[in-house]
Amino acid sequence: MTGISRRDIGKALGAAAAVAAAGKGAAATAAAAPLAPRHLRFPPGFLWGCATAAYQIEGAVKEDGRGVTNWDVFSHTPGRVANGDTGDVADDSYRLFREDTKLLKALGVSTYRMSLAWARIFPEGRGKPNPKGIDHYQRVVDNLLENGITPYVTLFHWDLPEALPGGWRNRDTARAFADYAGYATSKLSDRVRHFMTTNEFRCFTDLGHKEGIHAPGLKLPDVEANQVRHHGVLAHGLAVQAIRAFARPGTQVGLAENPVFSVPVIESPDHIDAARRATRDDNAMFLGAVMEGRYSDFYLETAGASAPKVEPGDMKAIGSPVDFVGLNVYQPQYVRADPGSRRGYAILPHLPSSPRMASPWLYVGPEVAYWAVRYVSELWHPKALFISENGCSADDPLVAGRIDDSDRVMYLRNYIAQFHRAVSEGYPLKGYFLWSLMDNFEWADGYGKRFGIHYVDFATQRRIPKLSAAWYRELIRRNEMV
Ligand code: FCB
Repeated sequence: MTGISRRDIGKALGAAAAVAAAGKGAAATAAAAPLAPRHLRFPPGFLWGCATAAYQIEGAVKEDGRGVTNWDVFSHTPGRVANGDTGDVADDSYRLFREDTKLLKALGVSTYRMSLAWARIFPEGRGKPNPKGIDHYQRVVDNLLENGITPYVTLFHWDLPEALPGGWRNRDTARAFADYAGYATSKLSDRVRHFMTTNEFRCFTDLGHKEGIHAPGLKLPDVEANQVRHHGVLAHGLAVQAIRAFARPGTQVGLAENPVFSVPVIESPDHIDAARRATRDDNAMFLGAVMEGRYSDFYLETAGASAPKVEPGDMKAIGSPVDFVGLNVYQPQYVRADPGSRRGYAILPHLPSSPRMASPWLYVGPEVAYWAVRYVSELWHPKALFISENGCSADDPLVAGRIDDSDRVMYLRNYIAQFHRAVSEGYPLKGYFLWSLMDNFEWADGYGKRFGIHYVDFATQRRIPKLSAAWYRELIRRNEMV
């Protein structure tokens, strides 16, 4: 399956048709058979889904006793979010969730990845639960199940209860998260069988505490930022333990992570080894710690005096075995072997002409889809992998009631073809969640960057399927590339 481009297939099919037309006999036609058009068919039972997150779609920030979150505060701070946008209304999905289920059903997806707003369930982050929070999510989940859609639930997708003193700078927040995780899963695991603890360590730790572009908008020195990272992975690990203790037996626990994914510039052993080493180094403080139960020597040496303070038992908790790993796959990092350098590889910068989608950070490199799955499998041997997010922003002009986002279809088609390559080589990739079901509050970019396969008119809350929704529906219907 590998190394066959769509152009080659087209040529081969053309040749086969010509042979058949010329009536040149069975042998010649049979020789072309391996290149039949079903070459990008996925295995039966491969899960197709869509993903969203609570703060990005729900709105209703004061409804039913919800507590204030870090993103409420951040988005209401002038100058933090493009255009002064906030998640106050977003897609109004808190009220319109039944409409959203209809969109999912029309696509034919079997799964939906959604997140819970911690501050709806524990308005103060800990202490007394608010029964209306769990009631709401039970209704959402029941509505999905009635429509034959299996929910995959993320417990923390960046909206942190503001009442927790110090937020992620405080180690106690990790404990509070575990308590919330144990409670929420004890209430939902009769109907939800798959939970993801946290979404993207790097974003809620580094982007929020080192680079200052996400909530809470801090630029801490390395020693403090590394401690925040440690609290993030510790929160995940303690939550895994709490879920194992309080959820129904057999509940599947994992996480959704966006490692830095390296791609070898040339598929030859030296470059392939170099990019694998880079993948381990770049992610040693996050997925590496989770999968290995330790920080790598390289990470600790590089951090030096700024290395995180680790208490006894922390690394065991962080390394608690998970049932699956979710990967959020977007942009590549190209790497080449560099035998003269300290680590034996060089990271190549993106170039002004490197292709990008509508978000400046979203460089296009479909091969990253294959290498992400392969390197995570080779380095850490997860029992199962999901693509917990993949998708892109696009300009999405609304013309005569239609959004013909052929650029997004191009992006998805090319990435999914590379996921297929990983599946066909036997890596344990079980499903794919497209980011996103619909346009939503794209964090610091506000509503200016659209990632949905449904267009949302934020003035009326009307959802309009884009061309990419029709394309995805057809892919799901056939379970193969279209
Ligand atoms: C990921 C986030 C998700 C969304 C996409 C575009 O990093 O997890 O919420 O913003 O990027």
